[in-house]
Amino acid sequence: MSVNAAITAVEGFLPDYILTNEELSKLVDTNDEWITSRTGIKERRILKGKEKGVSVMAVEAVKQLLLKSGTRPEEIDLLILASVTPDYIFPASANIISDKIGAVNAWSYDMNAACSGFIYALITASQFIKSGAYKKVVVVGADKMSTIIDYHDRSTCVIFGDGCGAVLLEPNTEGLGIQDFLCRADGSGCRHLFQKAGGSVKPPSQETVDLKEHFVYQEGQAVFKVAVKQMADVSVEMMKRNNLKADDVAWLVPHQANQRIIQAVQERMELPASKVMMNIHKYGNTTCGTIPLCLWNYESQLKKGDNIILSSFGGGFTWGAVYLKWAYNGK
Ligand code: UT7
Repeated sequence: MSVNAAITAVEGFLPDYILTNEELSKLVDTNDEWITSRTGIKERRILKGKEKGVSVMAVEAVKQLLLKSGTRPEEIDLLILASVTPDYIFPASANIISDKIGAVNAWSYDMNAACSGFIYALITASQFIKSGAYKKVVVVGADKMSTIIDYHDRSTCVIFGDGCGAVLLEPNTEGLGIQDFLCRADGSGCRHLFQKAGGSVKPPSQETVDLKEHFVYQEGQAVFKVAVKQMADVSVEMMKRNNLKADDVAWLVPHQANQRIIQAVQERMELPASKVMMNIHKYGNTTCGTIPLCLWNYESQLKKGDNIILSSFGGGFTWGAVYLKWAYNGK
């Protein structure tokens, strides 16, 4: 019997502080009507407190994940963190998370594929299970976007939030779990969505700080156009090549960047809105956190055997889709 990698548990962590549209409208020239109609976002979470990096959220999520699945930390073979806001440029935050949860037998590393990070990491992790090399792999998608957002820039500060989701991947021999994946990247899109300084091209300096080059730079419309096309194309392609009609798909789990992008993808897939996971109104765009947080929020509604399509688009550009059969009944 062939082995698939299946998600066998999902957890999440969201900071307590809620940044509402109303509060944002006191910081920049914006309003609830604009933010809601253009993005679908009502509020987002912010991790407050000094020297609290992304690993703080991830440690909480993974601890709960292990408790819930009855997994001992020493059983974990590998932990992969997808994030654009790691604690440090090096070492990998995945190493820090593994240490804090006591995953003494795991190796661990970070992956950066911007908003597609979770999908990239999930696919990568699944290969270690499918090959038979490992039995338990944890994939975390987490971002503390508030550290790279300029709260004077209305075009970006209304969109992003902080949050983390995590899944446990284990072998499945019943034909459930990840069935297919399709990923793409186009580095020529870099100039439309990136953090200009802090890397080796432009190390931090007084000038980069003065020019606010350590914050997210995004040309919204340019990104929007490509996101709609590419996310919809890979999602439809995933259905086609697996002979899935709209009726066969139980859920679409889209990256939560903009409600209008999600609706466009849903329409191309000819799915009803009731089959689309959505939490953008509560958390905004948590970058690598959006997809696992959706799975966590909707877990109780998921049934063993459900056909689910995950789909994302992000900086890079990166995009992709995963087709999986859910492996357990949600509680
Ligand atoms: O997750 C990774 C990938 N990222 C994405 O997929 C994001 C893709 N892009 C988007 O979601 C949208 O482009 C945004 C939400 C970023 C912007 O929405 P838009 O409908 O594309 O707005 P726009 O940039 O075309 O701006 C329209 C107007 C402008 O005013 P003028 O020039 O028409 O007078 C902006 O200055 O809206 C103005 N504007 C705002 N007004 C009130 C921009 N941001 C705001 C704001 N509040 N927060």
